[in-house]
Amino acid sequence: MSDSRISIISAMAANRAIGIRNTLPWQLPEDLKHFKALTMGHHIVMGRKTYDSIGKPLPGRDTVIVTRNADYAVPGCLAVNSLDAALTVSHGDAEVFFVGGAELYRQALSIAHRIYLTEIQRVFDGDAFFPEFDTSQWIETARDKHRTEGPNGFEYHFVIYDRK
Ligand SMILES: NC(=O)c1ccc[n+]([C@@H]2O[C@H](COP(=O)([O-])OP(=O)(O)OC[C@H]3O[C@@H](n4cnc5c(N)ncnc54)[C@H](OP(=O)(O)O)[C@@H]3O)[C@@H](O)[C@H]2O)c1
Repeated sequence: MSDSRISIISAMAANRAIGIRNTLPWQLPEDLKHFKALTMGHHIVMGRKTYDSIGKPLPGRDTVIVTRNADYAVPGCLAVNSLDAALTVSHGDAEVFFVGGAELYRQALSIAHRIYLTEIQRVFDGDAFFPEFDTSQWIETARDKHRTEGPNGFEYHFVIYDRK
C-alpha cells in the first residue's frame, strides 16, 4: 500500500497522440517547464521505452524505470519489475508521478488519484496514444488555457482531473 498521492502526468494531442517513433510529436517548451515544476523533488515512474527516449535520469527527481527485465540496471536510476514495486521504492514521497508512456498509463489509470493532462488542441501524427478513460469517474478541477506564438500557433490547456 502507498500513502502517496499517485498522479499521472502527460501531454496529448486532439487525437490522443502522445508519441511517435519513441519521441514527442511536438516541440512545446512551456509544457516541459510545466512538467519540471510539478515533478521536481519527486519520484517519476516511467516505462523502459520512455526511459530509452530520454536517455538519462532527470535532475532533481528520483527516476524509477519499470521493466520486465530482471537484470536491467541504469546508474542513477531505480529499476523495478512492476507498478507495485515502483510505489514501494517511492514510499514516503507525498506525490509520485507516472510519466508514461502509453503502456504505463494504461496500467496506472486504475490506481491514480490525479491526472495532469496537457490537452493540445491540434492533431499530431502518433504511434502511441493516451488511453481513453471513463470521465464519469473523474472531475475536472483546473483548466488553464494557453496558446503558442506565431501564425501556426495552437492552444494547449493544462488540465487537472481528480478521481471522484
Ligand atoms: N506526451 C507525453 O506526455 C509522453 C510521456 C511519456 C512518453 N511518451 C511517449 O510514449 C511512447 C512510449 O510509450 P510505450 O507505450 O511505447 O512504452 P512505455 O510505456 O514507455 O514502456 C513500455 C515498457 O515498460 C515496461 N513495462 C510496462 N508495464 C510493465 C509492467 N507491468 N511490469 C514490468 N514492466 C513493464 C516494459 O519494458 P521492457 O520491454 O523493458 O520489459 C515495456 O516494454 C514514446 O513515443 C514516448 O515519447 C509521451
